[in-house]
Amino acid sequence: MKSDPLALAARRLARRLDELGRVSDERGRLTRTFLSPAMRRANRLVGGWMREAGLKVREDEAGNLIGRSEGPPGSPTLLLGSHLDTVRDAGRFDGALGVLLPISALSELRRLGARLPFAVEVVGFSEEEGVRFSSAYLGSKAYTGTLRAGDLARRDRAGVTVRAALEAYGSRPFASPRPTHRAADLLGYLEVHIEQGPVLEAKRRAVGVVTAIAGQTRGDAVFRGRAGHAGTTPMAWRRDALAGAAEWILFAEALARRQPPVVATVGSVAAAPGVSNVIAGEAVLALDLRHPADGARRRALRDLLAAGRRIARRRGLAFDWRLAQDHDAVACDRNLTRRLAASVRAVQGASSAMVSGAGHDGVVVSALAPIAMLFVRCRKGLSHHPDEFAAPADLEAALRVTVAFIAGLAA
Ligand code: HGY
Ligand code: MN
Ligand code: MN
Repeated sequence: MKSDPLALAARRLARRLDELGRVSDERGRLTRTFLSPAMRRANRLVGGWMREAGLKVREDEAGNLIGRSEGPPGSPTLLLGSHLDTVRDAGRFDGALGVLLPISALSELRRLGARLPFAVEVVGFSEEEGVRFSSAYLGSKAYTGTLRAGDLARRDRAGVTVRAALEAYGSRPFASPRPTHRAADLLGYLEVHIEQGPVLEAKRRAVGVVTAIAGQTRGDAVFRGRAGHAGTTPMAWRRDALAGAAEWILFAEALARRQPPVVATVGSVAAAPGVSNVIAGEAVLALDLRHPADGARRRALRDLLAAGRRIARRRGLAFDWRLAQDHDAVACDRNLTRRLAASVRAVQGASSAMVSGAGHDGVVVSALAPIAMLFVRCRKGLSHHPDEFAAPADLEAALRVTVAFIAGLAA
């Protein structure tokens, strides 16, 4: 029945995702990075929707947007959320769905007159993707009180530190926030996220549950050689950093192809001095390495670094590795996930369970609370791309599951 309140709510959710997807730092494409002007506008827009749902809204020292509905005195808090920052030229569902959908779910529960025996907090984390400072989860780390001095000292491409960026954004000195909650105060954390993969589409299912989030290692591999004249330097005399880097990128790809489910990606290359008639004296490669099993990921990293040293030695280059972040795999909480799967079955008849190759804020929140994740089918599994898309019918299914999950916890 398309006048069904939840069907209407799902259509409104789709419109809000479209609207938020237009809040960008760049013309013609969606890019919304940590503490940027677009982030501030996004927090204002989403904060308004939180207020409409009856939530009390605040922004914490790290730019996390928090909407809270109080429960009975002394009652625990259920957390729901995801991130509001995006990658460059992003899709409009990654992160945003996990903030806007719970707002719609709470509006629906409010419309039904539900009186929850616990508080609910919807969080729009300010930084998950790691675009500006090459280190992910700064928002959820601040929210859980796990931001370290090393995080605050990281610099962006303009040399601005995380601390300076936070102080500029908040126009006040930045004091590392204490955890927003004690573990004992929390019922758990639910993150709704597009799958960013092909499983649900292959299974013709709208939603599924996540059993674990793969571990990931990110860092810079640096090859240093000797810059020189592209026209007069004989090939045999060259110490070409970019050629060595290219050999390493192909080695990383071949290693990952040989050892599934390892995935290894070099997503950016910075060559210096970076002009066509100069042999590159330096090449900096950003590596992203993932695996559901931590031991296998560490062995793959060891093999990649040994290959970097081998290639450098043979080519007369120097090789260096600068770790940016390292997160072990995280298991979702069995009990919460069992409850979530029951809500999925109630809505779509059957449930699928899968491991997430993508990282999520739940990785960080899991240190403070049991986590569960609901995946929503996305077209062709495409994400981190402007064509990212989740159908309104699948948004509706996810909304029904989330309402049922929250109501189930309250029963
Ligand atoms: O890269 C990731 O795993 C996520 O999209 N942040
Ligand atoms: Mn992402
Ligand atoms: Mn995401």
